[in-house]
Amino acid sequence: MSAQKRPSVSVPENINEEYYQISAEIMSSFPRYRPPVDLFFFNEEIAVLTPFSRKGARLSNEQVEEVAKLCEEGNLFVSRSDHHIYSEHIVKQLDLVLQDNNLKEAEIVNICIQALKNRYNDFYQQPVKSFYASLLNDVLVFTEYLFQDKTRVGAFMRRLSTDNDPASHAVNTMTVGLWLWLKYNQNVQRKTLDNLAMGLLCHDIGMSKVPPFLISRNGPLKPDEKDKVLQHPLQGAKIMQKMDAVANEILRPCLEHQERLDGGGYPQKLKGEQIHPEGKLAALADSFCAMIAERPYAPAKNPLDAATELSMDPRYDNNLARMLIGAYTMGKF
Ligand SMILES: [Fe+2]
Ligand SMILES: [Fe+2]
Repeated sequence: MSAQKRPSVSVPENINEEYYQISAEIMSSFPRYRPPVDLFFFNEEIAVLTPFSRKGARLSNEQVEEVAKLCEEGNLFVSRSDHHIYSEHIVKQLDLVLQDNNLKEAEIVNICIQALKNRYNDFYQQPVKSFYASLLNDVLVFTEYLFQDKTRVGAFMRRLSTDNDPASHAVNTMTVGLWLWLKYNQNVQRKTLDNLAMGLLCHDIGMSKVPPFLISRNGPLKPDEKDKVLQHPLQGAKIMQKMDAVANEILRPCLEHQERLDGGGYPQKLKGEQIHPEGKLAALADSFCAMIAERPYAPAKNPLDAATELSMDPRYDNNLARMLIGAYTMGKF
C-alpha cells in the first residue's frame, strides 16, 4: 500500500464533507477512459472544486494523463453524492477500502458488511473452493481493518441487521462473536482473529445442504427432515474441512454452536466444559442474532431484551450474555 498523497494545495475543510479526495489506487482501478463517477479538480485560483468530467464520458488521451497528474497531486475529487457508485465498486474489490484514507469510518464499515454478505452468499449458494477463496480474501481485509484498531468492532455492532437471510445472520453472528471475544482477549493474535471471524461467519454453512423448503417451512418436520437440519453443524464442519479450513477456531463454531451447557443441544450433546470456548461463544452469538432478526414466526426482539433473556437461560454462558446486557444498557460498544 502506498502512502496517501497529500494535496499540493490546501483544500478548505468543508470540501471534504461533500467530496472525497480520490486516491491513485482507486482511480487506477476504474476504467481509465470512462470513469464511472463525476470527477472534480481543485481550482487553486478560485479555491473551489470545478467539474472535470461527467460520469461515463469518454476521456481523451490528454485527459487521462491530466487525471493521473491531478490524482497524484491530491487534487482530484469525487462527490459524496456518487458514494453508491463508488462503494459498489469497492464492494467488488474490498482491499481498496484499506487504501483509501478519505472514506469515513461509517462508509468503510458499510462497504465491508456489504462485501462480506455478497461473498458469503456466493459461498452459501456454492460451497466450493473458488468462492471460499473470495470470501477468505474479504474476511482478511475485514480482520486487517479490525486488527489495526480493535475498537472498530463497535462500529460493526452498531450496524447489526434485523434481516433474516443467511448472509445477514452470518455477518451479525461474526460481529457479535468477535466483539465479545475482543472484550475478553485484549492480546489476540492476528491468525486467531482471522480464523475465528471465518468460523463465526460460516457457523451455519452446513445449512446450505438442507433443502430450502425445509428451512422455510412453518409446520412440524418429519423425522427424516428434522434429521437433515440436526446434521447441519457436522455438514458445516465437513464443508470447511474440504476447503482446508481446519483450525480449531473455524471448526468449533461450526460444530458446537448448537450445543447447550445442559447437554440438551446437538449434534454431539456435549455438556458444560466439554463445549469449547469458541463453541459457547458461537452458541450465544448465534442465538442472540436469531432473536434480534425479523423471523417468519416471531418479531425481532430488542437487543437488550434478547440479551436479558439469554442471561437467564442456564443453557448459555452467563458471562457472555451479561457483557451484552452491559453494552446495551449503556449504549456503548
Ligand atoms: Fe445453526
Ligand atoms: Fe445460526
